[in-house]
Amino acid sequence: MANSTLPERIRRDFPILDRSVHGKPLVYLDNAASAQKPLAVIEGQREYLANYHANIHRGAHHLAQLATEAYEGTRRKIADHIGAESTEEIIFTAGSTDAVNLVAQSWGRANLNAGDTVLVTRMEHHANIVPWQMVCEEKDADVVPVDVREDGTLDLEDFARKLERHQPKLVGVVHASNTLGTINPVAELCAAARAAGAVTLVDGSQALPHLAIDVAAIGCDFYVATGHKAYGPTGIGFLWGHRNLLDAMPPWRGGGEMIRSVSFDGTTYNDLPHKFEAGTPHISGGIALGIALDWMNGVGLDTIHAHERALVQHAHQALQTLPGLRIIGTAPDKVGVVSLVVDGLHPYDLGTLLDGQGIAVRTGHHCTEPLMAHFGLESGTLRMSFAAYTTREEIDRAVIALERAMRMLS
Ligand code: ALA
Repeated sequence: MANSTLPERIRRDFPILDRSVHGKPLVYLDNAASAQKPLAVIEGQREYLANYHANIHRGAHHLAQLATEAYEGTRRKIADHIGAESTEEIIFTAGSTDAVNLVAQSWGRANLNAGDTVLVTRMEHHANIVPWQMVCEEKDADVVPVDVREDGTLDLEDFARKLERHQPKLVGVVHASNTLGTINPVAELCAAARAAGAVTLVDGSQALPHLAIDVAAIGCDFYVATGHKAYGPTGIGFLWGHRNLLDAMPPWRGGGEMIRSVSFDGTTYNDLPHKFEAGTPHISGGIALGIALDWMNGVGLDTIHAHERALVQHAHQALQTLPGLRIIGTAPDKVGVVSLVVDGLHPYDLGTLLDGQGIAVRTGHHCTEPLMAHFGLESGTLRMSFAAYTTREEIDRAVIALERAMRMLS
């Protein structure tokens, strides 16, 4: 197998890739929305549900102990995976959206005041815009966006200018754009933001499946990510934060598990990380997320990234031959995301015709409406997004199908 390609080595781990859609072999190019799951993840979740399901942390019995060990094992794996100093800095959440909301509602409500600014970028997912708008509205503070250049890279001069002008309390930046694929220079941005006195939050939703992550090297204060884009289940993700910040933050959601003691005279709260984890969590999801991280590390993050870079290059070359087609986002450093528009054709119509040929893509604004408005793309884009198992042949099939769809609609 030494000379086999990455997809040849791993595709058998993904049973769904063998299915047909509308009588055609499935070509799954919607990985930025959600990646498919390897057998180990599927089996790991089944194994927990079938053999050792119990609630975690509080049971005095064997099954509770097994479940707790497996769930907490994932916390350890996440900490190791992103270079966190301790497992206490890893808060399980329902995903990235939930994690940003936690920071906005806890840190934001405690630290933002009238006249303050939260600086984000115009390429943020709504999940790193709207939670800030909600808390800023309450506090009479502002959310200010940094501009994006024509090629889909961040305008670094605008970033420096707005950092200086607004002296933001927090800078929120996406590590890799879900719509453009752009990988942002997050270490550079965080260093500048910190020097300006801002707290930094990096949205790693699209980085976790594609890139090795080291929060110490990035130098951020908060990092959020979700499991289901990284070969894990939906409904589980995490927030990493610096311990001193998390310690100082008030709890957000109240309930069981997050307390030390409860009385009507006054309630006290649990230590990290449990202070932020009210209620019974997504236990099977947490366990399976750890298995997904093991799977990715087994393949190798550098191998995955190199493979996807080659796929992006291949897709760009092949797509550029189609008349009237424009790629949105041509940054030199991209994860496996290719957004495109075709003159005079609606992305949704193209996407529907591709689906008829077994090809799964996403169309629309991809939860980045301000970015689409910036590019003047009212109907959004058609987005192909890749994973470790995506092949060049699949991209070629998608390009042929797209050409056919363009002919049919013209
Ligand atoms: N945020 C997800 C995407 O980019 C749903 O498709």
